Amino acid sequence: MNQAALHQLLASKKVLGEAKKTPTELFHQRFHTNLTYIKDLFFSLYPASDTSYFSKKLPEKLELLFKERPEALKKQDLERLQEGNWYQSEKLVGMQLYVDRFSKDLKGLQDRLPYFQDLGVNFLHLMPITTRPNGENDGGYAVNSYHEIDPRYGTREDFMELSQKAREKNIFLMLDFVVNHTSDEFEWAKKAKKGHKKYQDYYYTFDDRSIPDEYEKNLPEIFPESAPGNFTYIPEMEKWVMTVFNKYQWDLNYRNPEVFLEMLGNLMALANMGVDVIRFDALAFLWKKLGTISQNLPEAHTLISLFRMCLQVIAPGVILLAEAIVAPRNILKYFGENQFEGNECEIAYNASLMALLWNSIATKKSSLMIRSLNGVPNKPIDCTWINYIRCHDDIGLGYDDDFVREMGWEPFPHKQFILNYYCGRLEWSPAKGLMFMYNPKNGDGRITGSAASLLGLESALEQKNEISVSYAVDKIIMMHGIILSFGGIPLIYAGDEIATLNDYSFLEDEDFKNDSRWVNRPKQDWEVVKKLDTSNGPASIVYKTLRKMIAIRKDQEVFADHNNTVIHDTPNPHIFVFKRKDAGKSIWVISNFDEVSQSLDVSWLLSNGILTGEASVDLLTGNPMTLNGNKDFYLKPFGHYWITNV
Ligand code: GLC
Repeated sequence: MNQAALHQLLASKKVLGEAKKTPTELFHQRFHTNLTYIKDLFFSLYPASDTSYFSKKLPEKLELLFKERPEALKKQDLERLQEGNWYQSEKLVGMQLYVDRFSKDLKGLQDRLPYFQDLGVNFLHLMPITTRPNGENDGGYAVNSYHEIDPRYGTREDFMELSQKAREKNIFLMLDFVVNHTSDEFEWAKKAKKGHKKYQDYYYTFDDRSIPDEYEKNLPEIFPESAPGNFTYIPEMEKWVMTVFNKYQWDLNYRNPEVFLEMLGNLMALANMGVDVIRFDALAFLWKKLGTISQNLPEAHTLISLFRMCLQVIAPGVILLAEAIVAPRNILKYFGENQFEGNECEIAYNASLMALLWNSIATKKSSLMIRSLNGVPNKPIDCTWINYIRCHDDIGLGYDDDFVREMGWEPFPHKQFILNYYCGRLEWSPAKGLMFMYNPKNGDGRITGSAASLLGLESALEQKNEISVSYAVDKIIMMHGIILSFGGIPLIYAGDEIATLNDYSFLEDEDFKNDSRWVNRPKQDWEVVKKLDTSNGPASIVYKTLRKMIAIRKDQEVFADHNNTVIHDTPNPHIFVFKRKDAGKSIWVISNFDEVSQSLDVSWLLSNGILTGEASVDLLTGNPMTLNGNKDFYLKPFGHYWITNV
């Protein structure tokens, strides 16, 4: 049982009986339940810190932060405890968006709530909305403040109103906590530049290049084209500061316990704005150590768990999403391992599934995906995934080299093939993407582009080729069908639901042109939305099909995530089959990644429990599983089916 489950139990009617505990009493109960954990975690990170942190500083801080939490949210926290793991429900369907690009500002977003309701979306990830430097600011991931709303989006009141309205409509909100770095205009950075030693110690600052040079021996480069190196010289303070991402994003020094305490306050300020899920941005980078790549270090996990244990005491209804776009085995660690199992983040991005889906499209085969997904252990039972095909970032090709070799491919040329396929280097490929941060030193690169363009819609429309257009539409539907039915919360990237193409306008903008991720951050096209009901074009077909799939998902309890996804080995390498099952029901999600028909043989279907003919039905069309010559089930090109026995 993880700590969250313990809090649920201790706050349940079963344990409390008739005894009525006030929110404050329950806070104290949670504090004492987590205290041993918190102490262990804290002292393992800060062994030299004096004991006043425990006798005074930390308890006082937690108490204060609890007092500051609005009463309505305290009430909601207790309701959530009664509810159990609400984030694993089949009823949740998410969308990610930039407020300015979607609806101009927060007020505009409030007016758009009916759009989400029509589609069935009830979980919103709003990209950063707090103050940031003018000019380049990494889409707001360079923060000037953790809670002051940037005037371009509106005011704090606008946000509070939005969060209130969202709550009334049962729409959940997720915001980012940019936990690894601040901008160089953040108040601590400004004070550091002025020479305040205290604030210089909030960051990794160095008098000369000797330690930075040592670090550089192992640190990879995140943005090698636009921000090479990991340190920036700041003339005002005559020091080097660690800047792993962009030169204007200063890495916080969590070796200093004061930084942890201050950031806990910032985390709570965010939670107190009525946010349900907090996205821990770039959390793999939280701890730096000489001689290592300074990613996924055990201390980073300890620190995240420490944040979680404290957050749980103050606001048990708020949960954490890990943004760890790392190797499959490493992602799992963000749910917590060994003695921390289930005590780190409740949710993590399923970056492995995402990258494998794109591999399957390019190779037209599902074998690497099946091998890889079956090759990692299950996540802890109280945790869940965010399943997505596109987000605001690039697509990194994080495949396990051993599995790639098992497929008979060599990892390096295979990666080059995928890059070539998506980035316009293969004449026959329908994909239209851009190369992101290609590093000629090691041939590494990532991919940018909107889902529709990567799946061939842009080139098909250019060629006015109707068959290619319909293939592209089928691929968009298939990819979304998979994330809508796989265990976890599906997160649709705004615009993908109406098959939005690449937006090349970033090339004309000084602040964006060095970062091709802007090609897949288009403005929402409300003109297209207006015509959805009357048109038969790709946007309409995709929107209406997704809306239907979402409704079906919400209607089937088996789609809730209880680690009840079984990935089948199929005899046909082009076909991907997984089963969602619970005591009463199974649904098989079947997809064909090939552009020609493929088939599954009846004996394979039967041996896996899938009945055929009138004994089964495709929930998406209502059609039975008609066999060809009583022998095979034919899947059309890029066909996608949700089959259940009747
Ligand atoms: C995360 C964000 C990405 C940003 C980076 C640095 O990976 O998703 O957009 O550039 O963190 O903050």
